[in-house]
Amino acid sequence: MSKLNIALVGAGRRGAGAHLPVIAKLKEVYNLVGICDIDEEAATRYAKEYNATPYTNVRDLVAQEELDVVDVTVPGVAHHAICCFIADAGVHILCETPIAVTLPTTDLMIERAKANHVKLEIAENYYRAPRERFLSKVIAADIIGEVARIYRIFYEGGYHGMSMLRLRAGGEPKSALGITQTTPVIPIIDRMKRHHTSERWSLGFIEFNNNATALMVYSNVIHARSLGRGQTGISQIDGSKGTIVGEDIYVTPTDELQSGAKGVPYRPKRTTIDVDGVNVTAAIELQLPDQTVTWENPLKNYPLSENQIAVADELLSIATAIQNDMEPEYGAARARQDQEMNIAMSESGNRSRETLTFPLTALTTTEQDIHENYQQQYGHPIEDVEAGIDTFFPRR
Ligand SMILES: NC(=O)c1ccc[n+]([C@@H]2O[C@H](COP(=O)([O-])OP(=O)(O)OC[C@H]3O[C@@H](n4cnc5c(N)ncnc54)[C@H](O)[C@@H]3O)[C@@H](O)[C@H]2O)c1
Repeated sequence: MSKLNIALVGAGRRGAGAHLPVIAKLKEVYNLVGICDIDEEAATRYAKEYNATPYTNVRDLVAQEELDVVDVTVPGVAHHAICCFIADAGVHILCETPIAVTLPTTDLMIERAKANHVKLEIAENYYRAPRERFLSKVIAADIIGEVARIYRIFYEGGYHGMSMLRLRAGGEPKSALGITQTTPVIPIIDRMKRHHTSERWSLGFIEFNNNATALMVYSNVIHARSLGRGQTGISQIDGSKGTIVGEDIYVTPTDELQSGAKGVPYRPKRTTIDVDGVNVTAAIELQLPDQTVTWENPLKNYPLSENQIAVADELLSIATAIQNDMEPEYGAARARQDQEMNIAMSESGNRSRETLTFPLTALTTTEQDIHENYQQQYGHPIEDVEAGIDTFFPRR
């Protein structure tokens, strides 16, 4: 199969830090032709490092390169503007999370991709991590039975959190209750260079149509343990037959079900191999007395770290979709649902803890605020895609 020409737009923390090193490792699939960033210094620096042509504007990039796909890693508030423009140019898209910041801007992007017959994949990475792929297999193999409750406390929040809860619940969301609180913190810059002056804490309770429920607690300050303050996290999935705590799987031996019913923990084993000096996770395997569940890394021949596997997975999802004319694995509809659930949680908090039901049918005050803040900050309406392309969206 011939290689695909790819360009990256937005050579910031995520683009340059996570996507470019992986694109460079997928040499059989991608030919990196351009790196575009409105910040000329970043465009030039990374273009030199990765042997691509630098651009400071997507208009020039699209006019001058023969592109199959653009990897969009500009700030989330700019996704719809850049993606609509690229879709109009007939180029396929991999876009970082969130798909867009509100549902109207998300829909704008989805409609433009559809109208131009281009594939749109979203770089939702959390479920693509080896541990999560393995746990998906454990649940599918019925090891813990029917999923009843999911707890994700101080793990990922927002749309990433919603993606994980929905996946683990295996159902469609029915309603969301959100509780939010904002408290001051001394001004800090975390290890990802994010600025924080307040802790925005939130608790979400989601009900699904298959009777599963989920509880999520999140805070920007605790995110990814970025401040090293020692806060703990809980990831627990309670099923009818067993529980997954972190990576450990608890099930009760059949002969003890009527005599104490105490669960026995089973810890999965990771097999790693050396690929060009990188310690690569080749497989994760769970051995139970009567059953074995194995997740094998389909990318084990690539020198990819655990974090890079998820990014490579996204990049290969859009490549496979283009090459086989099929839908990408995650796709825009799922990413939209993640953002819808995320907005519902925040809106519920704004409305003094009113439980909201899905689908959301009217513009929420949460989204109205985002649209108003955007206009105030950038001087044009958020739907003005043409103006958005030429706007610098600074790091926050
Ligand atoms: N999936 C994940 O786990 C994950 C993690 C971090 C960030 N992200 C997402 O990645 C995206 C980028 O985040 P980041 O932290 O790298 O941001 P960043 O600010 O570090 O980088 C964004 C880059 O885009 C450039 N840019 C801004 N406006 C532009 C325009 N109009 N045209 C071209 N370039 C422009 C900036 O100069 C900057 O270099 C966001 O959507 C964010 O939500 C995802």
